[in-house]
Amino acid sequence: MQQQTAWRMLLTCALVAGAATALHAQAAAAPSTATTRRPGLIPWPTSVEMSSSDAIAITNHTVIEVTPGQEGLWRLATDLARLLRPALDATIGIRDIAGPAAAGTIRLEVVPATAALAGDGYDLAISANGIRIEAATPAGVFYGTQTLRQLLPWAIELRGPRPFAVSVPAGHITDRPRYAWRGVLLDVSRHFFSVADVKRYIDLSAMYKMNRLHLHLSDDQGWRIEIASWPNLTRYGGSTAVGGGAGGFYTKADYAEIVAYARDRFMMVIPEIEMPSHCNAALASYPELTCDGVAPTLYTGIEVGFSNFCFEKDITFKFLDDVIRELAAMTPGPYVHIGGDEVKTMTPAQYSGFMERAQAIVARHGKTAIAWDEIIHGTMLPTTVVQYWRPDASLAPPPGTKLILSPANRLYLDMKYDDTTVLGLNWAGNVDVNVPYEWDPAKHVNVPESSILGVETAIWSETPATIRDLEFLLFPRLPAVAELGWTAQPARDWTDFRMRLGAQAPRWSALGINAFWSPKIDWTR
Ligand code: ACM
Repeated sequence: MQQQTAWRMLLTCALVAGAATALHAQAAAAPSTATTRRPGLIPWPTSVEMSSSDAIAITNHTVIEVTPGQEGLWRLATDLARLLRPALDATIGIRDIAGPAAAGTIRLEVVPATAALAGDGYDLAISANGIRIEAATPAGVFYGTQTLRQLLPWAIELRGPRPFAVSVPAGHITDRPRYAWRGVLLDVSRHFFSVADVKRYIDLSAMYKMNRLHLHLSDDQGWRIEIASWPNLTRYGGSTAVGGGAGGFYTKADYAEIVAYARDRFMMVIPEIEMPSHCNAALASYPELTCDGVAPTLYTGIEVGFSNFCFEKDITFKFLDDVIRELAAMTPGPYVHIGGDEVKTMTPAQYSGFMERAQAIVARHGKTAIAWDEIIHGTMLPTTVVQYWRPDASLAPPPGTKLILSPANRLYLDMKYDDTTVLGLNWAGNVDVNVPYEWDPAKHVNVPESSILGVETAIWSETPATIRDLEFLLFPRLPAVAELGWTAQPARDWTDFRMRLGAQAPRWSALGINAFWSPKIDWTR
C-alpha cells in the first residue's frame, strides 16, 4: 500500500513535469506488487491485455495525429481534444500524420481492411510509442476513441477547468462487435422530445457503441414529422400528447439536424410511420383517411389497436406514397419502418393486403421496409426486415429473412425496474438490469445466427415525458444492452458485468445522468 502511494506520487510529479516518456520509464520500474483491476470497460472488448503497472501520460504537449484525407477523423480528433481539455486545462493540437508513431501522440488511423480489422472493429495500442487507434473505417476509429475514453479516469467527464494528471494504462485492445445492428428506439409520439433531447439520447447511446436510432414518429397520440404535402398532420395531429400536453413535431430542418448529429456519431436514423393501426393522429388530421369519412378526436390515452387507415380507399395509398416519398427523400439510411403491430380492427387477409402494398411503396422509393413481427403472418417481400417485439417468438420468418430482436420482456426499457419504480409500465414484466443481460439473442428465434442483424432496445413514451425520465430508464440498462449487442456471448458474464457497471457509475454522475441506482449493480469497486 505504502509502495503504491509512493508510486502514484512519482507518477503525479512526472505528469506535472509533462514528461510522458520519463513517466513510462519510471512506471515500468514500479513495484511489481502494484495491482490494477480489470478495466471497467463496457461493452467488454474482444481481447484486452492491460499492463498492471505501466501508465502513459497525456499532457498538454500531447498531439493528436490523424490519417490525412479521411473524412470525419479531424472531427473525432476535435471531440477527443474537447474531452481532454478541462483536465489538461489546454486544447491539445491536431495534425495530419506525417511520420512514424512517437511518444506524446494519440494517433487516429484509418488503414486498409484485413480479416482481423474490418467494419466497426478497431485496434487500440497504448505504449511508450504513444496511443494508437487503427480501424478500417472512421466508425471503427470512433469506437476506439470511446474505449479510450473509458480507460481515462472518470473525472475526465467533468466539464469546466479541473486540471489533474491524466494517464491511461499501457496495453493493447482488439475489438469487433458481435452484431452490426445495435439499436435504440425512441418513441417521440406518445410524448414529444426536442431536438436537444434527441441529441443527448444519441450521445448517451453512441458512447456505448450503439449505432441505430429508430424514431417512432407517428402513433395515435401524435404525428411528429413534417410532411409538406399533408401539412395538417403536424399542424393538428402533432398538437398534443399523452395526458393532453402540448405535443410538437420536427420540421424537415429539425429532422436533418438530428440525422446529421447521429451520422457524426455513426448512428443511422430509421424513421417509423405506423400503419395500418396506431394512426389516430393522422385520421384526426385528415378524415378522408377513415372509412366513414368522420374525423376522430385527438387521442391522449394509452390504449392500442383501435385505429386503422381505410384499406378500401385509394386515397389511403396515395397518402402513404406521399408520406414515404418525403420521408425517404430526407432519410439517407436505407430503411423505412412501416410498423404493422397490434391491429385489432382488420381481418388477417385485409392486414396482409395492406402491408403488401405498403412494402411495395417503400421499395418504389428506393428503401427497404422493416416491420414488427406480426408481418410474418402475411405476405412479405424477401428483403423486408422483421423486428421481433413479442416475447413469444416461436414462429420463425421465411428462410433468409433478416431479423432485429427487441423482445419486450428483455429489451423494453420503458418497463419498470422493480415494483418500487414509479416511472414505467409493467405489462411485459419488470426489467431490472440483469434481465436484458442474462439473455442470449441467438436463442430467441429458431433461425441461423447469420439471419440476426442484431438487437434493439426501445423506450416507448407513455410514461417518460422529459429527458431526465429517459435517462432514468436508460441507465443502467443501456450499457447492458450495449454489451449484449457488441460482446461475443462466451465473453459475457453477469458477475463480472455488474462489477464493471459499478465502476461506470461515477462517469454517469459526472455526465449529470439521472440513473436508477439498481441494487443489482455491484458497488464494491
Ligand atoms: C410494439 O411494442 N407494439 C411494437
